[in-house]
Amino acid sequence: MIGRLNHVAIVVPDLDAASALYREQFGVTVSEKVDLPDHGVTAVFVDLSNTKIELLYPLGADSPIDRFLEKNPDGGIHHLCYEVEDVEQAAQKLQKQGMRILGDGKPTTGAHGKPVIFLHPKDTMGTLIELEQI
Ligand code: CO
Repeated sequence: MIGRLNHVAIVVPDLDAASALYREQFGVTVSEKVDLPDHGVTAVFVDLSNTKIELLYPLGADSPIDRFLEKNPDGGIHHLCYEVEDVEQAAQKLQKQGMRILGDGKPTTGAHGKPVIFLHPKDTMGTLIELEQI
């Protein structure tokens, strides 16, 4: 059902320092900071040859990653995103198997403007997994 790894999202305590790490120490091209108010984050996109890294920092009040950063003040891996052909079909199939989908179970629009769902980490061995329709 799942295809390629689309991205790894990493929450960081300092977006400029994280950008500099990837740009200067790791020698890869990073994007400018992009505010995503609908998602409550500011993101920097790092394009690797085989996948992407998203560096995330809270934006505005009540960001969904506030609590993560409180619990992980040095930052850390927040979620993995796998590609699927049809996110509604994937959601239905997984729900039938007893898996929980965060929110109301319906796809929402993700950071790349495509439909996404997030699976409950308690059903996926502790990893928050996003499925994005490609
Ligand atoms: Co994501």
